[in-house]
This record gives sequence, structure tokens and C-alpha cells, in this order.
Amino acid sequence: MNAELLISDRVKGINGSGIRRVFDMKAKMKDPIDLSIGQPDFPVPAAVKQAAIHAIEHDLNGYTPTYGIPPLLERTARHVREDLGWNPVTTGTDGTRVLITSGTSGALILACMAVLNPGDEIIIPDPWFVLYPYLANLAQAKAVKCDTYPDFKLTAERVAKLITPRTKIVLSCSPGNPSGVVMSTKDNQDLLELCRSKGILLLSDEIYDEFTYSESRTEKRPGTGSSVCPSPARLPGAENTVLVVRGFGKTYGVTGWRLGYVAGPAAIVEQMAKLQQYLYVCPPGPLQHGAIACFDADMTGPLAEYERRRNMVNERLGKFTDVAMPGGAFYAFFAVPPKLGMTGEQFFMLAKDHNVLCVPGHTFSTRDTHLRLSYATKLATLEKGLDVLTKLMA
Ligand SMILES: Cc1ncc(COP(=O)(O)O)c(C=O)c1O
Repeated sequence: MNAELLISDRVKGINGSGIRRVFDMKAKMKDPIDLSIGQPDFPVPAAVKQAAIHAIEHDLNGYTPTYGIPPLLERTARHVREDLGWNPVTTGTDGTRVLITSGTSGALILACMAVLNPGDEIIIPDPWFVLYPYLANLAQAKAVKCDTYPDFKLTAERVAKLITPRTKIVLSCSPGNPSGVVMSTKDNQDLLELCRSKGILLLSDEIYDEFTYSESRTEKRPGTGSSVCPSPARLPGAENTVLVVRGFGKTYGVTGWRLGYVAGPAAIVEQMAKLQQYLYVCPPGPLQHGAIACFDADMTGPLAEYERRRNMVNERLGKFTDVAMPGGAFYAFFAVPPKLGMTGEQFFMLAKDHNVLCVPGHTFSTRDTHLRLSYATKLATLEKGLDVLTKLMA
């Protein structure tokens, strides 16, 4: 048998992640200054760890209901009520429902598999999070890339030009990866209105919703009145059009736990749950017990520290090049200064030769003009990396 001949076209269209390429380079470097990884560097809250340990020690290690364990499902539904003003139901296909998923990635895959037929179109931002183009491959659909340079906003005006009769999903990500840019309430309102008028699902990837800095927290939670990142799901009448996808991994430092949730139209969520039953069976059992404690964890300390780092990155790089102000997440997507006459890949390799690792922009984009820097790293490492990058730019 020639195993190569058996490989499906579906996976042949998928390239290994460019981030993995950077990992491989890192393995061959001596003490690199690593600004490539999108992984929080603060300790997981003790109560969250203890809740998971308690579950393991008390033999809660088996399969769970497909939708997630009832206490986590109820706690998440309460959060959705307080945060978005929605009223999720627990059965049926009317209104909105909540589903606990195997990471945010698992949620995005289920959503696309549940909605897209072969040949359908999903509009994604360019630059994108690395999984987005391949969501279309998995569903044998087409990813239509919406150029969002230079401000990295997926505006209704940009999206409207790309809509065809085959468009079924617009995938928005705010705060964005790789840019950290946050869409304003008005941006979201216009995009929601466009999707609603065309009968298109607005899939809102909000994995960094809690990772939003003070000036970007411009909306109020209907239930508690606290200041939060704008979400299209909070706008009047969003329940029929928006599917919100969120994760526990980034906010609480538990990326390896593979836990997220979705809230959205019950008819779609029910189909996603049906798929989850076969694809993932259930989200990781004992860790779901840990996730309940996440909702009460106080992350203001780490968030303030990340805001300080964001300010430093923005100020230092901003002296030499264009950086769209990251309102959230822990990335800055900066342009290679045009006077250097280099592509993003060339500047990436130059920085690597000086022992600094970022991710070249073409990993996330059809353009090769930018680099992504992650400041989810120790302050001393970040400072050293910025010293090198700014010297190279000067
Ligand atoms: C924008 C975005 N969406 C989704 C994911 C996937 O997250 P998870 O680890 O929860 O699957 C990431 C991870 O980096 C991300 O940046």
C-alpha cells in the first residue's frame, strides 16, 4: 500500500502551522528571547487547581453529559445572562442554548461543521487566527479572506463587498489574534445589522473577552454593571444572529485543559452538541469541575500586569513603526518599517539571527509585511526582545 495515495484532499490543503515552524526553530536555538508563544505566563488561580484536583481525587474521572456537567452548564448560563443579557434555555431548539466544548478550537470546528455545506463560504478576517482558513477545509467550504489592514477591524463596509449567495458565516474575532485590536460597539452594531439583513451567522470568537484593557472596556454588563469588552452578542436582538465562542484557557492560564463554551441559536447549538457527542464525546471531565471556579477567580492582578506590558510594547515599537493599538489579548502586530525594504519573513529571520523569536505575519495573512510579538512572557525577556527589535528597526 502507498499510504501517500490514501491521503484526502481535505487534509492535503492544510499546511502545518507556521507557529510550529517557529517552535522547531526555537528547539535549535540557544537561550532564545522567545516572543512567539501565545500562552499566559501567570500561575493558575489556586481555587481553580484545587477544584480539578478534588474532582480527580473523588473519582469524577468518567464521561460527562455531552453538554457538560450540570453545575458548569448552569454557572456558564448564569454568566451568559449577566454578561450578555440573554436567557438561555436548557432544552429544545427555540431561543438560545449553552454548550461546554473541548476548547475554543473545538467550538469553532463544531460550529462550522454544523452550518457549512461543501461550497458554502465563510468570511474570515485577514490577518486571521491560524485555524480559521482550515475551518473551511474541514467542511469543504471556502474561506473568503477580508483584508482588514491597517486598523485590523472587520468592518461591515469591508465585509459587505465579499458577501455572495453562498456566504453562511462571518467570523469575527475581537480582541483579535494576531493584532489584539478591539471592535467598538458601533463596529459590532454595523456588522450585526449586515449579517442580520442577509440571514448570515455572525460567529464571534471572544476567547480574549476578559483579556481587555481599561480603555477598551467600553460596555456595561447588563447583569452586574461592570465594564467589559464590546460584544455583538450584547446588542439588542443579537440572539438570532450571533453565536458566541469563548474559552477558559487564556483567561485563567489553563490552555492545556481544552475547555470553552458557546452560546447562540439553540437550533445550531443542538446540532453542534450532536456532533460533539461523536467527535469529542465530552469536554474533559474533571477539568470541568475546575472551570466552575474560574468564574469567581479574580484576574485583575495579571490583567493589570499585561496592560503595563502592552503599554510598554506599544510605546517602544510605536517610535519606529506602525502598531495598531492592541486593546486586548497579549499580542502586537507591527509593520516592518518600510525604510528597511524588507518583507516580514526577512525581518523575522534577521531578528532570529539576533536570538529573538516572533512570528512572521504571513503565518496569519496573505501579506508579508508584519510580525506578531507576544508579550505573554517575563518582563525581563520582553525588555531584552524590545531592545533588539528597536535597535534593528533604528
Ligand atoms: C483567536 C483565537 N481563537 C481560538 C483559539 C483556540 O483556543 P483554544 O486553546 O481554547 O482552543 C486561539 C488560541 O490561540 C485564538 O487565539
